[in-house]
Amino acid sequence: MKNYQDVLAEILIDAEKLQKRVQELGAQISADYQHTDLLLICILRGGVPFMVDLSRHITVPHMMDFMAVSSYGAGRRESSGSARVTLDLQTDIRDQNVLLVEDIVDSGHTISSVLQMLETRQPKTLKVCALLDKPERREAHVPIHYLGFTIPNKFVFGYGLDLDEYFRNLPFVGVVDLDKYKPSE
Ligand code: IMP
Ligand code: MG
Repeated sequence: MKNYQDVLAEILIDAEKLQKRVQELGAQISADYQHTDLLLICILRGGVPFMVDLSRHITVPHMMDFMAVSSYGAGRRESSGSARVTLDLQTDIRDQNVLLVEDIVDSGHTISSVLQMLETRQPKTLKVCALLDKPERREAHVPIHYLGFTIPNKFVFGYGLDLDEYFRNLPFVGVVDLDKYKPSE
């Protein structure tokens, strides 16, 4: 893999802006879940940096769990139809207040099928917190209760989002220079 500097077109959301927004979301979530228990569910792997930072700004007691899904018959960029659970939760979510934490809602298929699947387990409440929203690409309607930023239809990486599995660690969200790097499907 090249260095990120060699494939970066521009920084879309810098580290300071990201951290400020994550802090705001944490405060909002803390206020909304003040008198209830809360279970954060991170969708691996993209949701990890976001959920970890968000959790530090959530001042009410909460638990964490993790799950992984993969889209049927499609690459990460063109997910279609339903998603398959590749790593399931360890927690029984029945009667829990669940907040799903995801890096980005693109076509919406991933979150939509995760929501459908989790609903069958009868949580008390089930909400979605997404760092990024690319509404131009939406195919499946999904509610986003807490949103970091709405972004244009560009392929981005950093802060959990990968470029062929690299660069999830970057503290900012950057746009790929497609003349210098083509993410594989
Ligand atoms: P959806 O099912 O189309 O909403 O896909 C969401 C998933 O696609 C996200 O969880 C990401 O893993 C991936 N994804 C969508 N857009 C991007 C992007 O711009 N950069 C990196 N990953 C992306
Ligand atoms: Mg993802």
